[in-house]
Amino acid sequence: MTTEPSRAALAKLTPVLTKRWLSPDAWRLQVYERLDGYAALRKALRAHPDELIQLVKDSGLRGRGGAGFPTGMKWGFIPQNDGKAHYLVVNADEGEPGTCKDLPLMMADPHSLVEGMVIAAYAIRSHQAYIYVRGEAVHAARRLRHAVQEAYEAGYLGRNILDSGFDLELIVHSGAGAYICGEETALLDSLEGYRGQPRLRPPFPATNGLYSSPTVINNVETIASVPYIVLGGSAWFRSMGTEKSAGPKIYSVSGRVNNPGQYECSLGITLRELIELAGGMQDGHRLRFWTPGGSSTPLLTDEHLDAPLDFEGMLAVGTMLGTTAVQVFSDQDCPVYATYRWIEFYHHESCGKCTPCREGNFWMKQVLRRILAGHGTHEDLGTLLDTGDQLLGRSFCAFGDGAASPVLSSLKYFKQDYLDYIEGRKPPLLTPYSAADLAGVH
Ligand SMILES: Cc1cc2nc3c(=O)[nH]c(=O)nc-3n(C[C@H](O)[C@H](O)[C@H](O)COP(=O)(O)O)c2cc1C
Ligand code: SF4
Repeated sequence: MTTEPSRAALAKLTPVLTKRWLSPDAWRLQVYERLDGYAALRKALRAHPDELIQLVKDSGLRGRGGAGFPTGMKWGFIPQNDGKAHYLVVNADEGEPGTCKDLPLMMADPHSLVEGMVIAAYAIRSHQAYIYVRGEAVHAARRLRHAVQEAYEAGYLGRNILDSGFDLELIVHSGAGAYICGEETALLDSLEGYRGQPRLRPPFPATNGLYSSPTVINNVETIASVPYIVLGGSAWFRSMGTEKSAGPKIYSVSGRVNNPGQYECSLGITLRELIELAGGMQDGHRLRFWTPGGSSTPLLTDEHLDAPLDFEGMLAVGTMLGTTAVQVFSDQDCPVYATYRWIEFYHHESCGKCTPCREGNFWMKQVLRRILAGHGTHEDLGTLLDTGDQLLGRSFCAFGDGAASPVLSSLKYFKQDYLDYIEGRKPPLLTPYSAADLAGVH
C-alpha cells in the first residue's frame, strides 16, 4: 500500500532542475523562454568570463557525474591566452546501472542543458562544444538536436550570440552504447573517432583533452545547474545542501518502493526520507540492501537508513555518493544474485585494456555463477576477495574500482548468504553453463 509522505518529507523536495518537467512542452523553446529560459544567458554574457568561473566556485557546485569534483575549479584549470582551441564536452553517456537522471532531464528540459553549455563555454573561452549522448538514447539525441536547432535559429548559438560578440558551435554526437565511453578520457577517444578506451593521465583533459587541447568535461546535471546559479547566485545555491555538498540533487529511486522515480532534494537527505517520498516500501518487502549511487558504489544496508546522502556522508560509511542512483532491494532479493548480475555487466563492458579488470571480471563472474549454481566452495570466497582486491586501485581506470564494489561490499555485509549457497542451506538459483565450465573454475 502506498503511504503518503509526511509534510516534513515533502519539505525536503527542492525542485530546481526538475521544476519545468511537469510543464507541458517545456522542451520547446517558446515554453522554455516563457519559464525564465535563457534569462541566465543574457545575464552571463554581460559578466566577465572570470566572474562566472568565480561564481561557480563560490556556489560550491560539485560534479554530478559521480566523482564530485568542484566544477568551478575544473573550469579554472583551463589555461588562458594559450592560443589553443578550448573545448567543452558534456557527458551524456549515462550507462551506470540504476542511473537514470540525465535522460529525463534532456527529454523534459533540453534547453536548460544548452543554456548551461553556452554559459560554461563563454566562461572557459570555448567556441566549440559537444554533447556525447549514449548510443541507445536515440529519443534523447533527437530531442537535443531539435533544441540545438531552435537555439541556433533564435540566436542563442552560432555567431555573435545575442550581439555579445561570442561565438559557439554545438554538436550533438551519439556514441555506440559502450559503458566505458562514459569515462571521460575514453569518451574523448571515442569522440575523436578512435576505439573508446581510457587514456593514461597525466596529462589531464584540462590541458590535453579533445584533439590534445584544453577541455572541460562535465556531466549533464552539472551543466544544467549553471543557469540557476547565474540567476539565483551562489548564496542561494549554498542555502540548499550542506557546507561541502551544496545545492539540489536529482535522486533516482528504483526498486522495491511504491513510487520509483526522480526526487530532487537538497544534498544530505537520507534514505529513510527518500523511501517515504517514494511512497514507502512495497507491501511485504523490508529493506535489506541498497546502492547510494549506482552499481559502482559499495552497497549499504538497513543500518544506514539515516546516513546523509551527500559526498561526505557516504564516504563516512565506506561508500560514495556516485550518481545518486538509489536502488532499493528487499528481504526478497538476493545480494549474491544481484552481485552476479552486476558482474555480468562489468564483464561484458570491460574495455579489455588492462589485465586486472579484463581477467578479474571474467573470473568473478565464473565463481559467482558457480556459487549460485550450488557448486561453490569455501575457497571461492577467498578467490572473490583476492580478485576484488586486485581490481581495487590496481586497474587502469575507475571502472575496475566500480566492479570490485558490489563484490567486496556484499561479502562484507552478506557473507552468510554466500555461505548458505555453499553449505546447501539455500537452493541453487542458477544452473551451471556446463560441466566443463564448472571444471574450468579453480
Ligand atoms: C566507467 C565509468 C563510466 C562513467 N560514466 C559516466 C557517465 O555516463 N556520465 C558522466 O557524467 N560521468 C561518467 N563517468 C565520470 C566521468 O569520467 C567524469 O568524471 C564526469 O563526466 C565529469 O563530470 P562532472 O565533473 O560534471 O561530474 C564515468 C566514469 C567511469 C569510470
Ligand atoms: S579498468 Fe582497465 S580494462 Fe577495465 S575498463 Fe578501465 S581500462 Fe578498461
